[in-house]
Amino acid sequence: MAEVTMKVNGKTVTKSVKGNTLMVEFLREELRLTGTHVGCDTSQCGACTIHVNGKQVKACTMFAGEADGAEVSTIEGQAAPDGTLNAIQQAFQDHHGLQCGFCTPGMVMAAASLLKDNPKPTEAEVRHHLEGNICRCTGYHNIVKAIMAASGQDVSGIAAE
Ligand code: FES
Ligand code: FES
Repeated sequence: MAEVTMKVNGKTVTKSVKGNTLMVEFLREELRLTGTHVGCDTSQCGACTIHVNGKQVKACTMFAGEADGAEVSTIEGQAAPDGTLNAIQQAFQDHHGLQCGFCTPGMVMAAASLLKDNPKPTEAEVRHHLEGNICRCTGYHNIVKAIMAASGQDVSGIAAE
């Protein structure tokens, strides 16, 4: 066991963890932040996407110990404290960018990372960025549309699906 300290959604936490505790297990089981999902055991689905020191990371691909001293953001930190959705979350709601919702936390976190680096992405850039995130319900179309709308672009020419 080793002690790790990190800032998660603005709050400093210190816990003892085993060396082989995955970050996604740490978030879900130690911190009860269950919005970060586990959708595979092959690092392919992206449902566990979080930000570590501002970078998009699949939380199943790192150990909690590797985040010692880091700033971590999860889906729980995206809405305002009063529950007001951020622009990306609101756009997912407005443009029906989700069905079952299982992939949604990872999609929102991936989208936030994309828009930070590329505030006005093209449709092709959005699709390319989402290659590491699997959605089994929506066919991606409305997710792409939501992300483009969240970036402030006119999506009225993109047909609904
Ligand atoms: S649970 Fe991390 S990529 Fe699927
Ligand atoms: S909305 Fe169901 S997996 Fe994406």
